[in-house]
Amino acid sequence: MRTIDDLDVSGRRVFVRADLNVPLDGDRITDDGRIRAAVPTISALRERGARVIVAAHLGRPKGAPDPRYSLRPVAARLGELLGAEVAFASDTAGESARATSEALTDGQVALLENVRFEPGETSKDDAERGELADRFAQLADLYVGDAFGAVHRKHASVYDLPGRLPHAVGGLVLNEVEVLRRLTGAPQRPYAVVLGGSKVSDKLGVIDNLLGTADRLLIGGGMVFTFLKAQGHEVGSSLLEADQLDTVKGYLERAEREGVEIVLPVDVVAAEKFSADAAHDAVAVDAIPSDRMGLDIGPRSQELFARKLADARTVFWNGPMGVFEMEPYAGGTRALAQALIDSGAFTVVGGGDSAAAVRALGFDEAAFGHISTGGGASLEYLEGKDLPGIDALK
Ligand code: 3PG
Repeated sequence: MRTIDDLDVSGRRVFVRADLNVPLDGDRITDDGRIRAAVPTISALRERGARVIVAAHLGRPKGAPDPRYSLRPVAARLGELLGAEVAFASDTAGESARATSEALTDGQVALLENVRFEPGETSKDDAERGELADRFAQLADLYVGDAFGAVHRKHASVYDLPGRLPHAVGGLVLNEVEVLRRLTGAPQRPYAVVLGGSKVSDKLGVIDNLLGTADRLLIGGGMVFTFLKAQGHEVGSSLLEADQLDTVKGYLERAEREGVEIVLPVDVVAAEKFSADAAHDAVAVDAIPSDRMGLDIGPRSQELFARKLADARTVFWNGPMGVFEMEPYAGGTRALAQALIDSGAFTVVGGGDSAAAVRALGFDEAAFGHISTGGGASLEYLEGKDLPGIDALK
């Protein structure tokens, strides 16, 4: 793959697909990690005299403009971080985008409005995506793919556009791939993987693959209740994916056959309702009251997980252990992040939610080996899937 150093960018319009999909509370950005991660590539291009047109998505609007998903607040934050004004196009590939791109001078940066305001961006129809990619191509001379968090999406700005312009891979994507390659190649062992988050159905492919590569699989978050139920425990009103029970039972059997240790919590924090002020207690997993829901792993599980990570040489973690956004249920995620740091292993934090949790809970990002900007993308990489946004850059 060509890198940005291989492109002659001076005085040329460079379309940079970045992943600026940050969490917002109204128009306040609650975690700007992805914007900060996008800065080095954009700065490097500016310094070399490029006219940089940044494109990105925010949330999942339905192919039409929706003010709740506008990238305008992101343009302001990007400008602060770059120390330079970022022009904002009020549409994605229309009149404003054209005028904004034409007005750029060397070293200036513009951000287009959310690419998902265009139905062609996410369309399954090649021609529809192609039509949008053609319009994007008219805005620029060169393309740089730097949206690691979106490389698993076969979308117009990620997959179709690079085929229409001379292109290169951005430094952020290169770095992410290099780190993940260490996990899929020959990770130092013991290699432990911690999975959390709400849904087991989002993680089936990766669990399948990890049963062949990891030594230990620690499971927390909402998805754990499907595992606990598969082991015969009652889980009260906790999140449960009943249609995945057979699959999960199959994983537990396969893990045993293949010598992969699966570590499940021994206690959970069970609350009366999904609320920070609900009555809640730590209870053993075989004593979850029928009217309570598990919202975090409990203190004994925190210790167990820390013990299971202490001797690991490589750890990959994706997904919070509990509802960390509410303080009473943040203990598991906080303890897990600390256990990763204490392990001294090469640690990779994968994904939007776990990366945001690490920052929201006040950990020093430098204490981890790598904090990925891609949630779904890093999981699909570990699954061994082809990633359209990387294939398109080859
Ligand atoms: C993410 O948040 O993981 C990426 O930005 C991709 O977003 P998506 O899942 O909406 O495609």
